[in-house]
Amino acid sequence: MTLNTSVRLARRPAGMPVNDDWLIEAAPVPEPGPGEFTVRMQLISLDPAMRGWLDDRPSYLPPVAIGEVMRAMAIGEVVSSQHSGFAEGAIVLGTFGVQEYAVSDGTGVTLVNSRLGTPSMYLGILGTTGLTAYFGLMELGKPRAGDTVVVSAAAGAVGSVVGQLAKINGCRVVGIAGGSEKCAYVVDELGFDSAIDYKAPGLRQALAQACPDGIDVYFDNVGGPVLNAALGTLAMGARVVICGAISQYNAEVATPGPSNYMSLLVRRATMSGFLVFDYAAEYRTARKRLAKWVADEALTAPETLVTGTVADFNDVLLRLFSGDNVGKLILDVRPG
Ligand SMILES: NC(=O)c1ccc[n+]([C@@H]2O[C@H](COP(=O)([O-])OP(=O)(O)OC[C@H]3O[C@@H](n4cnc5c(N)ncnc54)[C@H](OP(=O)(O)O)[C@@H]3O)[C@@H](O)[C@H]2O)c1
Repeated sequence: MTLNTSVRLARRPAGMPVNDDWLIEAAPVPEPGPGEFTVRMQLISLDPAMRGWLDDRPSYLPPVAIGEVMRAMAIGEVVSSQHSGFAEGAIVLGTFGVQEYAVSDGTGVTLVNSRLGTPSMYLGILGTTGLTAYFGLMELGKPRAGDTVVVSAAAGAVGSVVGQLAKINGCRVVGIAGGSEKCAYVVDELGFDSAIDYKAPGLRQALAQACPDGIDVYFDNVGGPVLNAALGTLAMGARVVICGAISQYNAEVATPGPSNYMSLLVRRATMSGFLVFDYAAEYRTARKRLAKWVADEALTAPETLVTGTVADFNDVLLRLFSGDNVGKLILDVRPG
């Protein structure tokens, strides 16, 4: 009998998640009923938002319940089907969870179109990552040619795409990333104009130097002191896009708000948050545009694939918080 190994939430983490927060369980693979299909997982997406889903507090999705399989986007192959829209052998994207097999009725599941991209691209550049960068920058950042665009977590999944899209839109792009290697990467490999290592002293001065006319668009993935420094460097009419705040996701005490927020008033700037899911109706069009840029080599889609099993989930998740990834972080659970 084939077993399905799943990763379930054993208890809510305090601060950084540890292995004891999870229960690894093996149970028989469920058979699909009428109108259902079974997926064998291949690639599991690691997302900073996962940390937020573990806390029992109101958010845009309910928290993962104790005992529940950890929520995750994943790519898998349909291995058994009683659903007319999902034949055996199809490669699909869905919220299948951190487990080896899942049964689905097709709700919220996307067929991977190999003409547009590879399966891993459907988790990265053609998935939530690329779509988040696209809608956050284009809809809220509203980049104009000649604008100075600054993006944090610049070598990460979303940030690397934001910077490249801003370049496509004729902007000057400054990345903020941890360490000289990542800074060199976004300039040399991704075509950013410059980059600042936020772990080195003098972030505020470095930003002022890199953006002598101020920041027109600040795309924030990290919150905390980096957001505060950017707020202190805004140009008149700047757009601050709040995409995420990874520096705060493991905080055990409330994080103080940015003290430089009055610069929004002085600079007549706006600061807006967004959720990529709000643009679901436009995913198909955006995905085609992103795929075209990749095909034209205007856009690179960096990925960090870590080979392992679902039991490695916690260790791989922690890489997002230590910065041990470039581009989209994926757990590759394909056998052999
Ligand atoms: N609004 C939405 O709909 C939406 C959708 C998807 C993702 N997001 C958000 O987008 C952001 C980026 O997500 P992603 O999937 O692309 O992750 P990612 O950028 O690939 O990985 C996270 C990166 O954050 C940086 N980081 C970690 N701890 C930090 C800290 N204390 N201070 C500053 N930087 C830190 C690390 O890079 P360094 O080495 O440079 O520190 C790490 O590589 C997250 O905040 C996520 O929640 C929002």
